[in-house]
Amino acid sequence: MNLKQMVGIEASKYVKDGMIVGLGTGSTAYYMIEELGRRVKEEGLQIIGVPTSIASKKQAESLGIPVKTIDEVSHVDLTIDGADEIDPQFCGIKGGGAALLFEKIVATYSKKIIWIVDQSKMVPALGKFPLPIEVIPYGHQQVLQRFDTLGWHPILRKNDNGEVVVTDCGHYIIDLHLEKIDDTHKMANQLDKIVGVVEHGLFLDMVDTVIIGTEEGVKTIHADKN
Ligand code: A5P
Repeated sequence: MNLKQMVGIEASKYVKDGMIVGLGTGSTAYYMIEELGRRVKEEGLQIIGVPTSIASKKQAESLGIPVKTIDEVSHVDLTIDGADEIDPQFCGIKGGGAALLFEKIVATYSKKIIWIVDQSKMVPALGKFPLPIEVIPYGHQQVLQRFDTLGWHPILRKNDNGEVVVTDCGHYIIDLHLEKIDDTHKMANQLDKIVGVVEHGLFLDMVDTVIIGTEEGVKTIHADKN
């Protein structure tokens, strides 16, 4: 069993009958959704999934997990998702898989958040992983220029065929190659104020529990959100 599968299965243990569960996106969340699908089928687990991407929705549906959109549920009990980097304060970067907008919306309206990662995602400071920024296509060249002027080394995300990546809601992603973010809250505030930016990949003070896959086994840490 690989580390991603290990944490995916571990996180699914937090899911109980009757829960409305935010289903994250990415190669780690994939295993959590697979395990929930297994439990639905084999244990008769009764849940409603709220997927954070078209990919996760398709996967959940193919496994027989009933799904609803965030607008069709009264609340979300628990969201389980991957992350690209997590610092010692449990702040994270997400959006490597271009699903950050739905992920942040579902997480924001979730009572509890669990991130599942392998050890390599735990870093002393955020920023080595390029920070994804979701932008409106209209005016994105101006936003790119603004980012460049600010010294944030922006690159418009393209796929392997050289085509601009379009998110599930029709936006573009600009990745900021910052190397190190000294003040994550200041950075988030700056980004929040830039017109054309829909959302950014800094997920600060949100997560409750981080489940880390290590060669020695699974490590679970509960974040102190104050
Ligand atoms: C999707 O947009 C991301 O936020 C993912 O949750 C994140 O990139 C982690 O993905 P992996 O589990 O594939 O590394």
